[in-house]
Amino acid sequence: MRHPANVAVRLVDYRPADFLIDAVALDISLDRTATKVVATLSLRRNPKGVSGAPLSLDGDDLTLIGVKLDGRALDPREYAAAPDRLLLETVPDAPFTLEIETRVNPTANTQLSGLYRSGSAYCTQCEAEGFRRITYFLDRPDVLSVYTTRIEADKAEAPILLSNGNPGETGDLPDGRHYAVWRDPFPKPSYLFALVGGDLGVVRDDFTTMSGREIALAIFVEHGKEARAAYAMDALKRSMRWDEEKFGREYDLDVFNIVAVSDFNMGAMENKGLNIFNDKYVLASPETATDADYAGIEGVIAHEYFHNWTGNRITCRDWFQLCLKEGLTVFRDQEFSADMRSRSVERISDVRGLRLAQFPEDGGPLAHPVRPEIYHEINNFYTATVYEKGAEIVRMLRTLIGEETFRRGMDLYFERFDGAAATVEDFLACFAEVSGRDLSHFALWYSQAGTPVLSMAGAYDANAKSFALTLRQETLPTPGQSEKKPVVIPIAFALFGENGEKLDLASPDARPDELVRGLIELTDAERKITFTNVPSRPVVSALRGFSAPVRLEPAPASADLERLLACDDDPFNRWQAAQSLALRAIFARVDAAKNGAPLPPAPGFVGALRGILASADSDPAFAAQALSLPSEIDLAREAGRDVDPDVLFAARIGLRDEIGRALGADAEAVYARLADAGPYTPDAASAGRRALKAVALDLVAAGDPAKGSALAQSQFAAAGNMSDRLGALGLLAFLGGDAREAAFDDFYERFKGDALVLDKWFSLQATIPEPETTERVVKLMSHPDFSLANPNRVRALVGAFSNANLTRFHALDGSGYDLLTRIVLELDRKNPQLAARLLSALRSWRTLEPRRRALVEERLRHIVDQEGLSPDTKDIATRALS
Ligand code: TRP
Ligand code: ZN
Repeated sequence: MRHPANVAVRLVDYRPADFLIDAVALDISLDRTATKVVATLSLRRNPKGVSGAPLSLDGDDLTLIGVKLDGRALDPREYAAAPDRLLLETVPDAPFTLEIETRVNPTANTQLSGLYRSGSAYCTQCEAEGFRRITYFLDRPDVLSVYTTRIEADKAEAPILLSNGNPGETGDLPDGRHYAVWRDPFPKPSYLFALVGGDLGVVRDDFTTMSGREIALAIFVEHGKEARAAYAMDALKRSMRWDEEKFGREYDLDVFNIVAVSDFNMGAMENKGLNIFNDKYVLASPETATDADYAGIEGVIAHEYFHNWTGNRITCRDWFQLCLKEGLTVFRDQEFSADMRSRSVERISDVRGLRLAQFPEDGGPLAHPVRPEIYHEINNFYTATVYEKGAEIVRMLRTLIGEETFRRGMDLYFERFDGAAATVEDFLACFAEVSGRDLSHFALWYSQAGTPVLSMAGAYDANAKSFALTLRQETLPTPGQSEKKPVVIPIAFALFGENGEKLDLASPDARPDELVRGLIELTDAERKITFTNVPSRPVVSALRGFSAPVRLEPAPASADLERLLACDDDPFNRWQAAQSLALRAIFARVDAAKNGAPLPPAPGFVGALRGILASADSDPAFAAQALSLPSEIDLAREAGRDVDPDVLFAARIGLRDEIGRALGADAEAVYARLADAGPYTPDAASAGRRALKAVALDLVAAGDPAKGSALAQSQFAAAGNMSDRLGALGLLAFLGGDAREAAFDDFYERFKGDALVLDKWFSLQATIPEPETTERVVKLMSHPDFSLANPNRVRALVGAFSNANLTRFHALDGSGYDLLTRIVLELDRKNPQLAARLLSALRSWRTLEPRRRALVEERLRHIVDQEGLSPDTKDIATRALS
């Protein structure tokens, strides 16, 4: 594979394009190995560009057949064509048309960027720079064009032909071929172009918009899977309604199409009027999808739909502004899910996700600002920082200016930038204007990388009945940013008295609105606030609802956490209290093990859990979250340095077993009450009961493995839905023995041929925390159902092994690292985007203890030294070593 030149792109170098392309007419004749593409571009010089500049069009791996300018075929001496560029030194100053013919081979396209084949269908993926793999173009998001697309194909092979916009003429052609025309009236950048051709099943529905327009909805799936698209269709209609109700945003085309494909590098793509999805985020049935899968479908369907306004109608000026569409759209999909489900449960799982993926990124060598200032490979910047931290910034903005003002700011943003390619500054200016607030300090969240650490010190004066609180913030250096400034941290805040009562806030040091709203703004490195009329030593509940993406260190004293767990009316902080207590109990075991001291029991924590279990029926989903111990990944992150996964694993299991021995009987009663839930429905309340049931079963097994195994075996055999079946299989996989192998065999026989379910089968085996697992993963790579060509399968096996099986991946003999290195290098030749993503499992290597650190460093150096490495993988390996 040829690779494009690996040059740095910098935000400060942004210049408007020298040309604009007002209209694009594409004529694409699909063929498995030689697809003919004729692109007719209506070009004119950009008044904001360099006058007299040559026309330089982007390409990637293209074969040029011919070029015509205003209808005249150009002599090859009139242009310079390379696979990655088409250069015309002299073009007219007046508007002109350029007709470019290229050939592409979709079958040979294993990168899954540009035009490729998934199964028997043709499909495209153009974000970020895939359109240039179809035709030469100004492939940048600030060039907006109106597209007309004519697709031609063999009618038997591809009876369905789709592109962006509204459907136009269709008809039959000689030789069994046919065509369809699509017109998209909304100017869009090339990354939003899409095309699909194939023999697909379809589910149809309709939606009446708030102004009474009828929209034809369709979801295209593999034949026979139509019934599994029902939930996605329902989620789509709810998303459409929600965007009208919450943001006043109406859909704008006559049709909205979704296509599910099985080979896809990411979750889904928001192409105008033609979203293309990884089928994992479309297909669900009770027998094949877990509650988490259903929630994932609802969230991703909403996310892509919401992009129609935040991303498509208003797009990004350049790729540095990626968070403008992604952070904002994640915020919107999180709010949608919160409205559809339980707001607090949604918030807890969103924050868990942020800490799982974004905090380690922000704390390691791959740290970058939410709006980066330099990149070598843009595909490596579709990160948790851009998406999830980007969403947190929007959330903080809303917290600071209030919901109602936030909505007015969004309205202004939509009004002012509709049809334009905008920047983060454009976005913030709208909110500054409606709120009358200077947001220049707040804007630092976009440009400064690293997770701020917030600390609190309180002193109670019993005589003065006052409570002095000192808040401090600090952000550690990150690559390329050694000096950090204080940021604006909104701290949602409450004080609780001795009897768990919430205290009225009074202080001469705070603004009245801060006291009324319970929202303290920390803008300097330090702020001291003395609260008055405090009757007794209070407990502080800070960062309620996780009001800012910071780390609170150290966590409050254990006695305070136990009080918060009992009395806080903020569910997030109640959950946080349980997590903090668990972390403390586990790290106490880690320390004891290190010093050869007896392992300290955690009676206070266990008692608190007993209380949660006793009242679990009132909110099962919350109870399930509060009863779940921090994962090994959480522990590794919180340890922060000299990480030894074996020690963390042992400490965690030790605490789990202690809890199981103490609460096994209580848990068994909860389990028994929840055992028969009746027929499956995917709603949040039912999912919450199933989640609690799974946690209860795990506690039973922790206290009495034989009993846990017996219950898991019968749950596995009798399960009426995938959540229950997979939950039981997960426990059996952990417990081991003959029951495990029998269950895996049974599961395989039951679901072979069902790719999405087999992914689960591969994943669970990869996460067994036993020495034999590495060998098992190697064997599974030669399983007839394994293929490096399918990203879902690769992520299921290799991604799960390297991200979720800490003890095996970090095995001291280096076998886990060797396995990943081998796969990354092999995959790099086929699908660099995926290879680079897999490699980022090593991003936190500097926090490992020295022996493992040395092992990883050696592998990373080996990777960087490879010849012909893709820019994607080279970029990750180079930055990881920096
Ligand atoms: N814009 C897509 C989303 O967030 C992300 C995406 C889909 C993507 N496919 C991609 C990004 C390929 C880079 C490369 O919904
Ligand atoms: Zn997105």
